[in-house]
Amino acid sequence: MAVQINPSILSADFSRLAEEAKAVEGADWLHVDVMDNHFVPNLTLGVPIVESLSRATDIPLDCHLMIEDADRWAPQYVEAGAGSVTFHAEACAAPVRTAREIRAKGARASMALKPATPIEPYEDLLPELDMLLIMTVEPGFGGQAFLDIMLPKIRRTRELISKHGLELWLQVDGGVSASTIERCAEAGADVFVAGSAVYGTDDPAAAVRMLRNQATE
Ligand code: DX5
Ligand code: ZN
Repeated sequence: MAVQINPSILSADFSRLAEEAKAVEGADWLHVDVMDNHFVPNLTLGVPIVESLSRATDIPLDCHLMIEDADRWAPQYVEAGAGSVTFHAEACAAPVRTAREIRAKGARASMALKPATPIEPYEDLLPELDMLLIMTVEPGFGGQAFLDIMLPKIRRTRELISKHGLELWLQVDGGVSASTIERCAEAGADVFVAGSAVYGTDDPAAAVRMLRNQATE
């Protein structure tokens, strides 16, 4: 499966989101971090901004919900225009039902795991998902250092995906940069979220191309 690079608008200028989306032309998805100040100690944006952004860009939206009560909210982000919706396992009471609702409404269903949440209890759920997100920082903020200790989890997850013969995408998010992306790719990740490594540079589109090259090597 081809490498995908998803710039995170958490590191973009929130007053110019449509322009910031244009600045990463060539990116596969735009990663939209939704935070509620309960599941994580930070607050970002919600359904109305996702609706506006989905009208303002042709890049599909990869919405990462760092919110409680994910079962109730996830389908609303599909209706708002997201092409992929990720809920956290830790914030979801009924992940199978929620994933099925996301798919039934026409988006890709994805589940995220915080660093301390193991993949093994979720092995039987993998066929219900289109993507699994392994957090490589504690969720909540951009610009944190990549957690190397997550590499074995990425490897184990890739092995489970292969064992079951699934098409599932394996996403990593947090501290992904020119100096860490190769290790993630080598461990088996194929979808890479990058916030500060893209929007913290003078040329975000060039940063996307560079990350893609490094992940492909
Ligand atoms: C963090 C968010 C990330 C964040 C990554 O909780 O989920 O998507 O934007 O930012 P960087 O790439 O700077 O670590
Ligand atoms: Zn994210």
